[in-house]
Amino acid sequence: MARVALVTGGTRGIGAGISIALKNAGFKVAANYGGNEETAHAFREATGIPVYKWDVCNFESCAAGIAKVESDLGPIDVLVNNAGITRDATLHRMSKDQWREVISTDLDSIFNMCRHVIEGMRARNYGRIISIASINGQKGQVGQTNYSAAKAGVIGFTKALAQENAAKGITVNVVCPGYINTDMMKDLRPEVLKGIIDTIPAGRLGSTDDIAGGVLYLAAEQAGFTTGATLTINGAQYIAG
Ligand code: CAA
Repeated sequence: MARVALVTGGTRGIGAGISIALKNAGFKVAANYGGNEETAHAFREATGIPVYKWDVCNFESCAAGIAKVESDLGPIDVLVNNAGITRDATLHRMSKDQWREVISTDLDSIFNMCRHVIEGMRARNYGRIISIASINGQKGQVGQTNYSAAKAGVIGFTKALAQENAAKGITVNVVCPGYINTDMMKDLRPEVLKGIIDTIPAGRLGSTDDIAGGVLYLAAEQAGFTTGATLTINGAQYIAG
């Protein structure tokens, strides 16, 4: 029986790459999206992957969305927490809304999603939870106190949840992408982006496939002893100890 995988923010960017890679590997995939209807429907048409709209910042919406996916496809075996946003500004210019939106979308969402799948995974003695954090949660980044804090929080959350569930056949891991060629890069001024690429020893931005490959490994049954791990995929831009 094909295993069921749910990817949040799964219709665009890194999330779309992950959804497609999981489908190609034989998973039954559901892709959540937050608001971009046109892109989500084009993604569904192009890939045949069903799409589900809900706000990952909202605890009750996550419960309802997950219940719908499970009634359509079956119990969720693999959860990929990918949805995330940036609202960059130095702290001396950051608004409370810029802080809250990022903490809510990038960190609260991890609790909202995991809380609603963990009991089922524990009952079935199987699960794979993979969260997408960031190089900037590892090293910090000027202009991203909000994002760096949220992504560092995801790493800590992962380590704790991994220990709680290691004896239950559930692995919990985090992937830290470096700078990946997606729409998020379009928010950066060209000279800022060039400065960043100059600091990547690989000499290029990463691709969505670079990240999907790591997620595929963590989603596999064979990865059952890999838990609480941080998988860094950044072209050697930052080498965490
Ligand atoms: N170190 C210290 N201070 C710095 C700095 C640095 N490297 N770079 C900029 N600053 C300071 C400047 O000196 C300036 O200070 P004052 O306010 O005192 O004058 C201030 O920051 C503003 O700098 P800018 O002229 O660049 O003005 P800005 O306000 O328009 O932009 C910024 C600030 C938002 C930080 C901008 O420089 C920027 O976008 N930086 C890149 C942020 C980044 O890497 N974001 C990643 C997005 S992609 C992503 O997040 C995905 C992922 O997971 C990797």
